[in-house]
Amino acid sequence: MFGFVGGSAGGLSLGVHQAGLSSTSRQATHRGGLCRRQQRRCRIVSALPSEGAAAAVPPRRHQGLIQHKREAFWFYRFLSIVYDTIVNPFHWTVDMRSASLRQAGLGDASGRADFKVLDVGGGTGFCTEGIVQYVAPAQVTLLDQSPHQMEIAKRKPTLRGVTFVQGDAEALPFPTDSFDRVVSAGSIEYWPEPQRGIAEAYRVLKQGGLATIIGPVRATNPISRFFCDLWMLFPTEEEYREWFTRAGFTDLKISYIGPPAYKGIRQHGLIMGLTITGRKSMPGEPRIQLGPMKERLDQSKPMSLAERVVFLGRWFLGCIAGFYYFLLPFAIMIYAALFIRMPRKSEDVVA
Ligand SMILES: C[S@@+](CC[C@H](N)C(=O)[O-])C[C@H]1O[C@@H](n2cnc3c(N)ncnc32)[C@H](O)[C@@H]1O
Repeated sequence: MFGFVGGSAGGLSLGVHQAGLSSTSRQATHRGGLCRRQQRRCRIVSALPSEGAAAAVPPRRHQGLIQHKREAFWFYRFLSIVYDTIVNPFHWTVDMRSASLRQAGLGDASGRADFKVLDVGGGTGFCTEGIVQYVAPAQVTLLDQSPHQMEIAKRKPTLRGVTFVQGDAEALPFPTDSFDRVVSAGSIEYWPEPQRGIAEAYRVLKQGGLATIIGPVRATNPISRFFCDLWMLFPTEEEYREWFTRAGFTDLKISYIGPPAYKGIRQHGLIMGLTITGRKSMPGEPRIQLGPMKERLDQSKPMSLAERVVFLGRWFLGCIAGFYYFLLPFAIMIYAALFIRMPRKSEDVVA
C-alpha cells in the first residue's frame, strides 16, 4: 500500500531537497538509486522527493469542501481546542519548521534580524514561535481569520510582544510595500483563491522582500487523492510555481519537507509537504489583475436557509474527509516503523 518514495537517511525528514532537477532527471536518479539498493537487498529510500510530488496527477475538478472561508472558520472553532496536540506532532514538526524557516531568509539564528515579518494564517502561533527565534516579537505580526486559533497564540509567553490581527489572507489589511518577510504555514489549503492570497503577500512585501509559503502536496495515491481533494486544497509543485510566478515573484526556491516518522512516504499527500520562497524584485502592486473576490467572511450577515444547508453539508462532509488525514499518519508511521529501514550514512548512495 505505501511503497517507497522520497526521503533520505537521518535527514529525510527535513526534507530538504532544493528543487532544481527536472522531473525526468529526478525520476532517473530515483530509479538508479533503487536499483543499487535492491542489489543490496536493503530497504532504503532515496534522498529525493516523491515522484508524486512532481508527477502528473489528474486535474482537480472541484474546490475542497473546507476550502471556503466560513467552513474553515467553523472547522477551526473546534480544531483550535486540540490543534497543538493532534496536528503539529504528526504533520508539522519543529524539525520541519526549522528547515522551512531557514529557507525563509529571516536572518542569522545567532543574531536577530531587524526584519518586519508577517505570519499569514498564523493560527495558534506554532510557526510564529519559530519566527521569533530570528526576529524580535515586536517586529512580528500574526494574522488569522480565526479568533479561536489566535486566542491560543496570545496566551503563549514566547509570543508576548507580537501584534495580532484578525483578517483575511486574501485581503490583507496592510499597506503595499510594508513587510520585509511574509511567511504562511499550513493556511493556503483553506483559501478559496490561492492566487489572490499569494498576490496579496506580494503586494504587502517591500521591494527585495521574500514570501515563503509552506503547504500541502497533493496525493498521487488515488484513494488518498480522493480524500485530500474532497477535504481542501493540496496543490502540486507546478501550481505553487505558477501562482508565485503569476504574482510577480522571482528567484523561486522549493524544498520538500515531511515528518521524520513517515520515512519519506509521500504518495498519500502531505498536509505540510513543500516550502516555496519567492522574491519581490519590483516595488508596488502585483502584476496579476484579479477580479472581485469570490468569498468574504462576514459573520454578521445572516445566511438564508439554502446557504445554511449548503454550509452544513459541506462542513460535515469536509470534516469526515479530514478525519481520513487524522487516521492516516498512524497507518503510515506503523508501516514505516515496521517495513522501512533507513540507510546508514555510508549506504545512502544516490546513483
Ligand atoms: C493549519 S493552521 C496553521 C497555523 C499555523 N500557521 C501553524 O504553523 O501551526 C491554518 C490556519 O489558517 C487560518 N486561515 C484559513 N483561512 C484563512 C484566511 N482566508 N485568512 C486568514 N487565515 C486563514 C486558519 O484559521 C488556521 O488558523
